[in-house]
Amino acid sequence: MRTILIGPPGAGKGTQAQYIVSTHGIPHISSGDMLREAVRNGTELGKKADAAMKRGDLVPDDVVIGMVIERIQRPDCARGFLLDGFPRTRPQAEALDVALAAAGVALDAVVLFEVPDSLIVERVTGRRSDPDTGAIYHLKFNPPPSDAIARLVHRSDDFEAAVTARLDKYHRETAPIVPFYEAKGLLKRVDGVGSPDEVTARLLAVLGPARVAG
Ligand code: AP5
Repeated sequence: MRTILIGPPGAGKGTQAQYIVSTHGIPHISSGDMLREAVRNGTELGKKADAAMKRGDLVPDDVVIGMVIERIQRPDCARGFLLDGFPRTRPQAEALDVALAAAGVALDAVVLFEVPDSLIVERVTGRRSDPDTGAIYHLKFNPPPSDAIARLVHRSDDFEAAVTARLDKYHRETAPIVPFYEAKGLLKRVDGVGSPDEVTARLLAVLGPARVAG
């Protein structure tokens, strides 16, 4: 299965991705996670990305495209992958098309999580992530276990000013790729409002039954 998750910041892409990759046995490729790791490791790529991410801006296409295309060409992606947060601009979508065509493979679905802006700030500012397990919590909607609280991370772009900037970027630069995939007949819209389990049920309904890759 080769699938893309699109949606505004805090729409639930990472939360739902954890479920899909465990049931479908495919790698979860999050451009945001890859960039945060590069920043933590102080690589050249991380230095180019750091300031833009803190402001809530997109990292330039020339930095992100090569990073993700190289990742999906690795052997563990041969039977599929779940892309989370990439592509986010029209040039990224076109570069992905070129890479997939060169590899002789095609996308199965592009899932758009629809969540109104009015719910986004509360979701994002309340998020906490567990660096040891990768689990994503929310102080109100998905409270963390007490033994994990001390090590939880509050992302540097999960404060209100950066979230507002990220939402603006989403509407200006990422939303325009929705018609690009709609025209290809790949777009599946999923209502992202409701409990995470309710959203998972809607996601499974549009993706079809899970199969664990052997
Ligand atoms: P990235 O890490 O991709 O962030 P994002 O797209 O803004 O998405 P988030 O991770 O904020 O949200 P999510 O949809 O995964 O929600 P989650 O499941 O965590 O990108 C960060 C930055 O990196 C960008 O701003 C940019 O600078 C750069 N970048 C990354 N990719 C790039 C690219 N391709 N090009 C250029 N730059 C790029 O859920 C959020 C919270 O809500 C959690 O607390 C969760 O517990 C809670 N929650 C989840 N589902 C529900 C529910 N149904 N009900 C209630 N709460 C819920």
